[in-house]
Amino acid sequence: MTAHTQAWGSGLATTTAAGVELDTWFSHVALGALPAGRDPWILPAELDELAGPDPRRAVTLEGVIVEIELGEAPSSTPDAYLRLHLLSHRLVRPGEINLDGIFAHLPSVVWTNAGPMHPDDFTRLRPHLVRAGIHAHSVDRFPRLIDYVTPPGVRIADASRVRLGAYLSPGTTVMHEGFVNYNAGTLGHSMVEGRISQGVVVGDGTDIGGGASIMGTLAGGGTHRVTIGARVLLGANSGVGISIGDDSVVEAGLYVTAGTKIVLPEEPRSADGAPRVVKATELSGVPGLLFRRNSLSGAVEAITRTGAGVTLNKMLHT
Ligand SMILES: CC(C)(COP(=O)(O)OP(=O)(O)OC[C@H]1O[C@@H](n2cnc3c(N)ncnc32)[C@H](O)[C@@H]1OP(=O)(O)O)[C@@H](O)C(=O)NCCC(=O)NCCS
Repeated sequence: MTAHTQAWGSGLATTTAAGVELDTWFSHVALGALPAGRDPWILPAELDELAGPDPRRAVTLEGVIVEIELGEAPSSTPDAYLRLHLLSHRLVRPGEINLDGIFAHLPSVVWTNAGPMHPDDFTRLRPHLVRAGIHAHSVDRFPRLIDYVTPPGVRIADASRVRLGAYLSPGTTVMHEGFVNYNAGTLGHSMVEGRISQGVVVGDGTDIGGGASIMGTLAGGGTHRVTIGARVLLGANSGVGISIGDDSVVEAGLYVTAGTKIVLPEEPRSADGAPRVVKATELSGVPGLLFRRNSLSGAVEAITRTGAGVTLNKMLHT
């Protein structure tokens, strides 16, 4: 947990002619209070130079200095963007700061190769934009991470798969099929070829196989915050709705939800010879397990694993 209760940043906010704040890009972010004697109305010279209108997009860029309370809910668009920057600059970890109600401060924006636009302006100005070589790549509340922050030591094969607010540690590779949401990410080296949903963190040395899915808490009313331990392998097209402990493996293609009934073949059987069965949620976070669907019986099983997790392919993971 960060010891700081405040953060501040200076950057450029994009505003429409009607006064809608579309985004804020921060050139400088820091934990702690605005330094004493620093006038919040005096902007760094390099931001002053970039400020001004951009008539192609019908927006104005304005320099801003923002100071926020990390324990309180976001209260404005620049405040919300500062929180996303703090996560992507790895100054705070997923789950460490208050993001309650953040969607209300992130308007739906047309993201173009020249920067954000209001959807109405984009529709109205389309022919002029085409002539100016400006095109849209998405309409969303969140921009792409690397349009705002480029975390050192990280590879991202497809920029559109990682949102601003993702926390990616050095040694992380997100391949084309990988996806990382805001307030989610990796705590060490990882190969990410599956989806890391909002709120999920993945431990060091863990491999998220192609098309694998980790349930988040945004959709479906989930409240359990899923974590994936260190040196875990989530097999291709597997899925998990429970936390997976260190040095564990989930078989390719197996989906383990919280209520999945799991056979423990290594445990003593009951008096009538039935194997012990538990709900997957009881195995949440237990280290050193292999989850597999027995291809003969169809039952999902958990068996103990020997050895320590996966060894990431050094050629691929550096
Ligand atoms: C589940 C998994 C880890 C098992 O691999 P493993 O531990 O190396 O096990 P093995 O394939 O050597 O099999 C060991 C034994 O278990 C058996 N077994 C393996 N999977 C089984 C299953 N689902 N049901 C029943 N038996 C199974 C094997 O037949 C073998 O039996 P044997 O001792 O009689 O020969 C592997 O199948 C898997 O899914 N790996 C994920 C790879 C992946 O997706 N990587 C990401 C790429 S993007």
